[in-house]
Amino acid sequence: MAKKIIQTPRGTRDLLPDTQAYFDYVEKVFESIVRSAGFAKITTPVFEDTNLFIRGVGEGSDIVDKEMYTFKDKSDNSLTLRPEGTASIVRAYLENGMQSWAQPVKLYYFEPMYRYDRPQAGRYREFWQFGFEMIGDKSALADAVVITTAYRIYDSLGLKDTLSMQINSIGCSECRPMYLKELTRYYKENEKDLCPDCKKRLATNPLRLLDCKGKKCQLLAEEAPKIVNSLCTACHDHFKEVLEYLDEIGIIYEINPRLVRGLDYYTRTVFEIWNQKDGAQNALGGGGRYDKLVEILGGQSTPALGFAGGVDRTVEQIQQIKDGVEVTEQRDVFVAQIGDEARKKCFRLMNDLWNSGVDTEGCLDKGSISNQLAVANKIGAKYTLIMGQKEAYDGTVIIKEMNSGTQEVVTLESVISEIKHKLKQK
Ligand code: HAM
Repeated sequence: MAKKIIQTPRGTRDLLPDTQAYFDYVEKVFESIVRSAGFAKITTPVFEDTNLFIRGVGEGSDIVDKEMYTFKDKSDNSLTLRPEGTASIVRAYLENGMQSWAQPVKLYYFEPMYRYDRPQAGRYREFWQFGFEMIGDKSALADAVVITTAYRIYDSLGLKDTLSMQINSIGCSECRPMYLKELTRYYKENEKDLCPDCKKRLATNPLRLLDCKGKKCQLLAEEAPKIVNSLCTACHDHFKEVLEYLDEIGIIYEINPRLVRGLDYYTRTVFEIWNQKDGAQNALGGGGRYDKLVEILGGQSTPALGFAGGVDRTVEQIQQIKDGVEVTEQRDVFVAQIGDEARKKCFRLMNDLWNSGVDTEGCLDKGSISNQLAVANKIGAKYTLIMGQKEAYDGTVIIKEMNSGTQEVVTLESVISEIKHKLKQK
């Protein structure tokens, strides 16, 4: 009798060549955007000390309480297949002395993750994430850069029109405790209408009640006190500034007072990218600030933030609109800048270029112009736009033709039409 064929474990799958081509496409587009935004690749172990996730992601979160693949090795060490990337990146930051590197440290990854979740459409036990983390920058501009970088990835994948950007601030250790008291009081008054899970969570993690998918719980959440009304001045101002940056470049977002994210490490800005059809169910990606995580994992207090997108879900979206995929290697324009004023102006310029359909990359880093030009060369940019302190002050930009090295100075107002004209002539 023929032997029974052994199958993949539940919730895992083979990526056959057709699907793999889409995964490769997502990886290439993602890499080209994050690399030119100044992020460098990191690979961390597939399994880690279980305590990393218990401390990092947090007891009381679904991931730690229900979804970890935890096992003992032959030396009786408790190990866990990583359920997400952020805790591992922060561990690597601390373990490898990255506190002494130039800050912020900007890292990206493209890796499989493991969660013992109930498999269904868009939900696997082994799934892939593309993610990037920026450690050591507390500015609201950093939040805006991370959010726009995430947004641009989906835009470049052709998914912009199917998306909705959800954003919220969940405050900090100063203002959140007061809010949690208010929230707990509200839910205690309505405890009889809560689902059994939420009744339990009320004692351990009341914030999570806001994003319960149960019908009655959702109705209660709509009427619940909103954290944006309880933010301390510093968190309020930070959130306002992030939104102003997003407004300035025309990113459409929805402030969602019920967006709290499922991992415990977040502070201040949180955001998710949804596809309009499925909403909160099967988010395409999520991220935010986690200003306490470095400290929680044993380092000095260091602000940080990041984002991770689900590759499997993103591929499924692309497959619905594209039959086959290809990536163009050469970029048209790279934006390099130096100085805080130029950095802010270039944030806007890059977005104006994208909105005008110019293929643009650029790192809004504090690194030297020569480092940024090296990145421009690496990605084969045809032109680099350079703005130093003098240009920022004068309202001008240098256009450098990368092949010949020739440079000219144009006004900031005319640079987009100039560059479009040049690209047309090429
Ligand atoms: P997360 O929201 O848990 O965040 O996961 C990010 C994305 O991974 C989700 O939006 C979803 O697309 C995908 N994903 C999660 N679970 C599954 C699953 N079972 N099957 C398929 N796809 C899944 C994080 O992991 C944070 N580390 C994100 C972050 C980075 N925050 C700051 N930096």
